[in-house]
Amino acid sequence: MTSATLPRVSVIGLGKLGAPLAAVLASRGFSVIGLDVSKTLVDALNAGKMPILEPQLNELIYAHKQRLSATMDPNEVVRNSDASFVIVPTPSDSTGFFSNRFVLQAMESLGKALRNKQGYHMVVITSTVMPGSTGGEIQAALEKASGRKVGPDLGLCYNPEFIALGSVVRDMLYPDSILIGESDAKAGDMLQTIYLQMCEKKPPVQRMNFVNAELTKISVNTYVTTKISYANMLADICDRLPGADVDAVTKALGADTRIGAKYLKGAMGYGGPCFPRDNVAFAALARKIGARADVAEATDRINNHQVDRLTGLVAKFSRAGTRIAVLGLSYKPQTPVVEESHSVKLAAKLADAGYVVAVHDPLAQDAALAVLGDKVVAASSLEGAVRDCDLLIVATAWPEYKTIEPLWCKRNNGQRLTILDLWRTLPVENFTDLADVIYLGFGR
Ligand SMILES: NC(=O)c1ccc[n+]([C@@H]2O[C@H](COP(=O)([O-])OP(=O)(O)OC[C@H]3O[C@@H](n4cnc5c(N)ncnc54)[C@H](O)[C@@H]3O)[C@@H](O)[C@H]2O)c1
Repeated sequence: MTSATLPRVSVIGLGKLGAPLAAVLASRGFSVIGLDVSKTLVDALNAGKMPILEPQLNELIYAHKQRLSATMDPNEVVRNSDASFVIVPTPSDSTGFFSNRFVLQAMESLGKALRNKQGYHMVVITSTVMPGSTGGEIQAALEKASGRKVGPDLGLCYNPEFIALGSVVRDMLYPDSILIGESDAKAGDMLQTIYLQMCEKKPPVQRMNFVNAELTKISVNTYVTTKISYANMLADICDRLPGADVDAVTKALGADTRIGAKYLKGAMGYGGPCFPRDNVAFAALARKIGARADVAEATDRINNHQVDRLTGLVAKFSRAGTRIAVLGLSYKPQTPVVEESHSVKLAAKLADAGYVVAVHDPLAQDAALAVLGDKVVAASSLEGAVRDCDLLIVATAWPEYKTIEPLWCKRNNGQRLTILDLWRTLPVENFTDLADVIYLGFGR
């Protein structure tokens, strides 16, 4: 398809997911118009530089700026697009359910603008929503505001993204598969056409009704978190089992194709803006409809225990007053996001327990310090962090930490540095003469 025959696309919500989607679509030939309620983000996109730290994002925006613009006016967006992707926040409420209030606001503004437009338009809900939402209150709000019925004139799809912060652009270009919940074949066909043009390799497309797609989205994350908690449960067992090595066990488990190796590493708990809350929402949904969610609940309990487990481990070989450097604060490498980060929780817990904690992160230092306050100090540099501690904890597996110089670990006072390498990041053979390297789940 040429740019002239491709559907024109709009993206509602230019945040951590919406801005990369707009940029990726523009890079694949689509004419894209973005909408946000934040003037700062709209101006930033029009200026070609978003304040969102995501690899390749600003390079793509700059390279394809002739096909990319942003506005705060829903009428302009609807007039200049055939399909609108809605990627606004769906924050968790106190019961664990996702709130649709921002999605409903978006339906109201898109719907009103649709009253001024002739011809077909498709609305695509990309935000993570509770099963039952798209065909329920979201469709109702869109139909009420637009005065149209979902059908031949108005398409509606639920289409979540399966991305990880830090690799959003790559994950959008090379997804494992595309999930489409569709109101009807016309809407589903249009969305499939968009994806087959957008993705570098043509991924399999799973098409279904709304509720199946909504349940699949949270089930995927719930299943992945189950694997993570399973590996952490094994690490805890291996810690207490003389001669055991959790990496040997998970490597052999992962070689079984029924299980697979991804996300099967005994290390830290999962964090970030999606995994913890998707798992909680899945369990809350099951409880609400009278089903059981024992696996999701156990996964959550195991995850919530991980910081205590690590603190207990540290207490075995260090005492209050020990100088601890925590390296890595973001919930995963390549992102500044510290939401639900276990590294931050661990740093806080160690500080509360009386250790002297210094922290370091290539991107997330400021965000983490805003949470941790004066419980901890910021390390002057990576080298400074390593030189000025008695216990070094590699908590987030940033590739930068592979470059730690063994010389920085040398101590002159007869003491030895202890390294707790939670993700087995360091090339251990370089450190064994200079430091006591301790791994999790290695049957001490
Ligand atoms: N961030 C992730 O890793 C991730 C992954 C998968 C799914 N999701 C889901 O995607 C959705 C968005 O997440 P995010 O991380 O991009 O959020 P975000 O907070 O980074 O961005 C959301 C944007 O929507 C804008 N917005 C709010 N209401 C609006 C409205 N009525 N009209 C226009 N713009 C509006 C906000 O100003 C903000 O810029 C959520 O449902 C989230 O669960 C996020």
